[in-house]
Amino acid sequence: MKIVLSGMRPTGPLHIGHFFGALLNWRQLPDQGYRCFYMIADWHALSTEYASPQQIRNNVEEVALDFLAAGLDPQKSTIFVQSDVPEHTELHLLLSMITPVAWLERNPVYKEQLEALQDKELNTYGFLGYPVLQAADILIYKANCVPIGIDQLPHLELTREISRRFNYLYGPLFPEPEALLTETPKIPGTDNRKMSKSYNNCIYLKDGPETIREKITNMFTDPRRIYRRDPGHPESCPVFAYHQLFNLAEAQSIAASCISAAIGCTDCKRNLAEKVVSFLQVIREKRQALDADRELVRKILAAGGQTARAVASETLGQAKKACSFKP
Ligand code: TRP
Ligand code: SF4
Repeated sequence: MKIVLSGMRPTGPLHIGHFFGALLNWRQLPDQGYRCFYMIADWHALSTEYASPQQIRNNVEEVALDFLAAGLDPQKSTIFVQSDVPEHTELHLLLSMITPVAWLERNPVYKEQLEALQDKELNTYGFLGYPVLQAADILIYKANCVPIGIDQLPHLELTREISRRFNYLYGPLFPEPEALLTETPKIPGTDNRKMSKSYNNCIYLKDGPETIREKITNMFTDPRRIYRRDPGHPESCPVFAYHQLFNLAEAQSIAASCISAAIGCTDCKRNLAEKVVSFLQVIREKRQALDADRELVRKILAAGGQTARAVASETLGQAKKACSFKP
C-alpha cells in the first residue's frame, strides 16, 4: 500500500486556495488506495512565527476544524499535530547530521522567503533547516507520495537527496518520495495577486454569507473594462477564475457574455457570490458544528497522534539501529 504524507503550517485559517489547491485532492486519496497522513506542522510554523507562539497554538485547532470541515475523514486518514509525535524531532536531528549546509543554502525557497519576509529575523539555524524537518516528516512514515504544490518541489527534492544519502551511509531504509501535483491552477486572490493572508485578499472557508458577498463585490475585475459597454477579457479577471471553480456549468456562457459586453461586472459578481455562498455553506455548517464540540476535535487529533506515533517510533527505531545508535 502506498503511503501519503502532507502537511500545512498553522499560521492562519485556511482559504479557498487551500481547498482547491490541496484539500480537495487530499480527501480523495484514501479512496484511491493510499494510506494517508495529514499533519498540522506546528514546529514548521514556529520557524517563522517564533515571536508569537501563542498564535500558532490557537491556529492548530482552527486548521483542524478547516481540515475536517473540508471533508478530510479521520476514519480514512490519520490527522495529527506534528509536535504530538516527538519522533519527528529526533529523526530531524539525525538527518541534520548528514545534510550538507550547502544543500540548504542553495534552496531557492529559502532564498525567496528570506527576501520576502524581511520584517522578520530569519537568519536562524531552524529556518535554514526547515527542509530537513520536512524530510523527517515525510521519511518517518516512509511516504512514497507527497501531495504538494509546485512551490514545494525544491523541498521535496531535498528530501529525496537526504533519503539517498542516509541509505548510502547506513543501508537502505527510506523510499525516495515523489510529488503528487494537483492540476488546479493557482487561484488568484480577490485583488488578482497571489492569494495570501498578508495581502488581505483571501476568501476563508469559515467566511459567512455577508462577508463573502462583500469580498466579491469589491473584487478586482478586468481593468480594460472601464464602461459597461466595453468588451471584457475573462481570462485576466479573477471573478471569472472563480466562476470556473464555483460555477462551472455557466462559465462558458459567462465568458461569452463578458466578451460581448452582454453582462456587466456587477451582475457577474452577484451571480458568483451566490454560488460561492452556497458552495461554502456545507463546509461552514460542518465547521460550526465542530467548533461547538472542540472536545471531539481534540479527541480526533489525539487519536491521530497515537496512530502516527506508532508508525513513527517504529521507523525511528530502524533508523537508529541503522546508524548504530540502538542495538
Ligand atoms: N512546508 C509545507 C508548506 O509550507 C508544510 C509541510 C511541513 C509539509 N512538512 C511537510 C508539506 C511535509 C508536505 C510534507 O506548505
Ligand atoms: Fe470579470 Fe465578469 Fe466583469 Fe467579465 S463581466 S470582467 S468576468 S467580472
